[in-house]
Amino acid sequence: MAHEGNNMETDRQPFARIIEEELIDYRIRTRFSHPVFVKSLGLSGTERVLEFGSGGGCLSSALVRSLIPEGSLSCVEISPYWVEKARRRLKSFTNIKYLIGDITRMTIPKNHFDVVIIHFVLHDIEPAARIDVVSALAKCLRPEGILFISEPAKPEHGMPLSEIRALMRDTGLREIHTGCTRSWVRKWICYGKFKKSW
Ligand SMILES: C[S@@+](CC[C@H](N)C(=O)[O-])C[C@H]1O[C@@H](n2cnc3c(N)ncnc32)[C@H](O)[C@@H]1O
Repeated sequence: MAHEGNNMETDRQPFARIIEEELIDYRIRTRFSHPVFVKSLGLSGTERVLEFGSGGGCLSSALVRSLIPEGSLSCVEISPYWVEKARRRLKSFTNIKYLIGDITRMTIPKNHFDVVIIHFVLHDIEPAARIDVVSALAKCLRPEGILFISEPAKPEHGMPLSEIRALMRDTGLREIHTGCTRSWVRKWICYGKFKKSW
């Protein structure tokens, strides 16, 4: 698998985001809401999982803990800063690897992963670029593999469920179920489970 990426020196993250990530995502979500979310996915523990946009490893932490050593987690993340943070936080796990770069330009094995997870990432990507990202992720999934997605639904910072469904349909993924719910901080979230049938 190719490891591409921008330079750590040029990969500056906004200070406010660093603080928010450390205090809310890492200290609270990693401990309380992410384990509940991961449990709801119903993984057996032996899967090869790809997490797209894994950031500082807040969700990855719950994901890797749900896998037994036969399972593995591959974290795809465009920012070397966040990958370094995740590496430090999750250094005790041996069944996790990091792929730094743009998924649309990486050579990731096709038909390889049992599960792909997109958690609060796609809405940050420019709308016109989303179809190529989802298409690249669909190609990595093995036939009958499952893609889970959760995204905020706010019009100014999020994406509607209709767009998620259209993107999945246009890349040939079959809908298992979708919906919208309110998170513990009362924000609307759209989610979906899709299957690769080709
Ligand atoms: C809000 S964070 C979510 C992190 C993680 N999924 C979670 O829920 O804890 C979004 C992450 O997606 C990454 N990201 C954005 N665009 C990306 C892209 N095109 N490829 C890979 N990662 C991307 C960002 O660098 C950021 O770390």
